[in-house]
Amino acid sequence: MKNLTNKVAVITGGAGGIGRALAMECAAAGMDVALADVDEPGMAETASEVAKLGRRALCIPTDVRKAGAVQALLDRTLAELNGCHLMVNNAGVFSAVPLVETTAAQYQRSIDINIGGVVHGSRIFGAHFAQQGQGHLVNTASAAGLFPVPGMSAYSLTKYAVVGYTLQLRWELASRGVGVTVLCPGTVKTDIVLREGVGFKPEEARKLIRDAPGPERLARKTLRAVRRNRPMVRYGPDAYAMSLMQFLPLWLIDPLGKLLARTALKVVETTTLRSGSSDVPKLQQD
Ligand SMILES: NC(=O)c1ccc[n+]([C@@H]2O[C@H](COP(=O)([O-])OP(=O)(O)OC[C@H]3O[C@@H](n4cnc5c(N)ncnc54)[C@H](O)[C@@H]3O)[C@@H](O)[C@H]2O)c1
Repeated sequence: MKNLTNKVAVITGGAGGIGRALAMECAAAGMDVALADVDEPGMAETASEVAKLGRRALCIPTDVRKAGAVQALLDRTLAELNGCHLMVNNAGVFSAVPLVETTAAQYQRSIDINIGGVVHGSRIFGAHFAQQGQGHLVNTASAAGLFPVPGMSAYSLTKYAVVGYTLQLRWELASRGVGVTVLCPGTVKTDIVLREGVGFKPEEARKLIRDAPGPERLARKTLRAVRRNRPMVRYGPDAYAMSLMQFLPLWLIDPLGKLLARTALKVVETTTLRSGSSDVPKLQQD
């Protein structure tokens, strides 16, 4: 989709971080934007930034785990913004918990949001784009979906799923005039590691993202990929390193992975709130 001017983008997880940067970049490219998130004050802030760029922004409270809510998101976007051309399935949650401490509920939450949300958005918007013979899907995965990262099994599981699923959709939808791109960023400076339930001690989370690249350049790279219909966007030095490492033979990477796991689990032990500690934040009941 070369020309984005006067087209309409829908961005899930648009209340902050990468989603907000994408909304700003879409507005700068001349698009109107529908924001979908569970964080209503955050969405309102993004919308007012988009409005400053002279484009319309619609805030649609949406829980991406619910197929009905995602269908309503498409219906309202079409009714109020008169079209839909780009869908960015970006809402997601992170968790840094070793396997032996991960609960069934933590796995389920990651699966429901990081996979379920992407699947609902891809199915519902992908079918709409296929029917109109035009459109582009962008799914936000992670470099953790390219190379295994010990100590974050629930997150890694979902991001591997998103990478494979998205590339499969790309090939399947190509003949219907629909472009598809998967985002595989390394660490990006956003609040994701500071959110409830992630597990990091706040001071350690801030250290982790202190030197990471911001989301604005990722948003620029993403729109360039949409215009050129590129399959994948990698972002940040860690993403490029992990992307290269995935091509090493397993006999070489296996002992390296075990060493890496020991270091990674030590880091997780010292930087996260340990389970059983009274400091561990309780997740809101979903
Ligand atoms: N920041 C990073 O280092 C990084 C790296 C690689 C990939 N990612 C991915 O990028 C995406 C955006 O993350 P971010 O860094 O901007 O974090 P973020 O926490 O700032 O943004 C995530 C957004 O998703 C929303 N969200 C969570 N659950 C939701 C639900 N059920 N329904 C609707 N919205 C929901 C949150 O309210 C939030 O606004 C995520 O998919 C994340 O996994 C982030």
